[in-house]
Amino acid sequence: MQIQDHKPEDWLGRSAIEDLGPDIHGVQVWGPKTNEKFQTTLLDWYDQHGRTLPWRESISAYAVWVSEIMLQQTQVDTVIPYYQNFMQKFPDIQSLAQAGEADLLKAWEGLGYYSRVRNMQVAAQTIMDDYDGEFPSDLKEIQSLKGIGPYTAGAIASIAFNVATPAIDGNAMRVFARLFTVSADIAQAKNRKIFQALGEYLVDPKRPGDFNQAIMDLGSSYQRAKDPNPEASPLRDFNLSTLTGTTLDYPVKSKKAKAKHYYYDALVLEDKAGRVLICQRPETGLLAKMWTVPLLERKEAAKEDMPLGPLFADQVAEDDQAIYDNLLAESQAHYHVSPIFYKRQLAEVKHVFSHQVWHIRVYQGQLKEDPDQVIDRLTKQGASNWSWLKLSDMTQHAFPTVQMKIWQAYEKNRV
Ligand code: ADE
Repeated sequence: MQIQDHKPEDWLGRSAIEDLGPDIHGVQVWGPKTNEKFQTTLLDWYDQHGRTLPWRESISAYAVWVSEIMLQQTQVDTVIPYYQNFMQKFPDIQSLAQAGEADLLKAWEGLGYYSRVRNMQVAAQTIMDDYDGEFPSDLKEIQSLKGIGPYTAGAIASIAFNVATPAIDGNAMRVFARLFTVSADIAQAKNRKIFQALGEYLVDPKRPGDFNQAIMDLGSSYQRAKDPNPEASPLRDFNLSTLTGTTLDYPVKSKKAKAKHYYYDALVLEDKAGRVLICQRPETGLLAKMWTVPLLERKEAAKEDMPLGPLFADQVAEDDQAIYDNLLAESQAHYHVSPIFYKRQLAEVKHVFSHQVWHIRVYQGQLKEDPDQVIDRLTKQGASNWSWLKLSDMTQHAFPTVQMKIWQAYEKNRV
C-alpha cells in the first residue's frame, strides 16, 4: 500500500530539497545535503525562538525524566507549576525512591494518570538498587525502567546524554507525517516504526536533544494539530504538505473506540462535627489509591427533568421520594449507615477520562451513627481505607480532579 502521497523528487530544485535519499519503509526522503540544511535551519530557529521552560534550564536526566513523564498526557502550561513543586519536594532520584506514597500522590494531585508517578517511584528504586543511584545513559537500559517507553527513553537519552536518537510521540509523528506527506495511520502501533526510522534518519547527530525539542516546539507552533500556520514556518520550503497545500490531511489518525459512560451517585456524608466520609480506591485500576467520597454506581442516566439544588422536604415531588428511598437502602446495604439525605441532588458533575465519561449526581446527607464506629465497621468489612475528612484540611489525602469537582459542587450548593 502506498503510504506517501507526494514525493520529494517532484520538488527537486523547486523547494529547499536539493538531493534525494533512501526509501524508508515506503517513504522516500531527501538526501544528506538537504538533511544537513534542514537540521541547521531547524536548530537556528530553535536557538532563537525555542521556548524557555524550567526543565530546559539546568539539564539533568532526572529533570528531563520528571518533565517528560508529566508532559505525556498533559499540556505544558499545566505541567510547569507541578514540575516546579515536584522538583522542590523530590529534588533527586533518592528522594523520589524514598518518598511516602501519600506525599507522591499529593504532588501529582490533579494531573491524572496516577500510575505514572507510582511507576516513577519503582524506577527510582531500581536506579538506586541496580545503578548505584546514577541514571543509566544507555537507551536500552533507560527503556527497561518501569513506565519508560520508547518515546521517553529517546527524549532522556538525547536531551540528557546526547545520544543520537529520536523521540517519537504523537507530536513528532504529526510533524514528520506532514514533512513527507506520510498517510500511514498514526493510531496503529505497527506504524510507529516508520516514524521512528524517519526520526533516526533526520535527527542531528551533533545536537540530538535540541533537535528533538525543536521538533516538539515546531509541533506546538507552526505545525500544531489545530489551526497550524505552516506558511510562516522556517521549514516551509522543506515541507511537502506545505508545498502541496495539504497540511490538514496529515497525520492520518483513525478514531479510537468510543468512551463508555458511567453513572454514579456521590454521597457526601457528614458527621455531627461536619466532617465528611471518604474512601480510598483499590490498589489497581482507574484512580488507584486516590480518595473520593462513596460513589454508588447507577444503571441508567439521570432523569432528564430532575431539577437541581436543595429543596425542603415538603416540596419534594412524590416521584423523587423513590430516589431517596433507594439511596437510603444502598447506604444501609453498602455502608451500614442510615443517613438523612437532603432532598434533591446538589449538582451534577461530569468528568471525562480517556476512555470513560462519568456522570455524577451529588447528594448531601447527615449521619447519626458514631463516626468512629462507622469507620471501624467499614474497615473490617473490606479492602478499602476509610477516613473522616475535615474540609479545612485537604492536604492529607490525594484527591483526583473528579473529586475536586464534587467538592466544588458541594461547597457551592450545600445546605
Ligand atoms: N512535550 C513533551 N516533551 C516536551 C519538552 N521537553 N518540551 C516541550 N514540550 C514537550
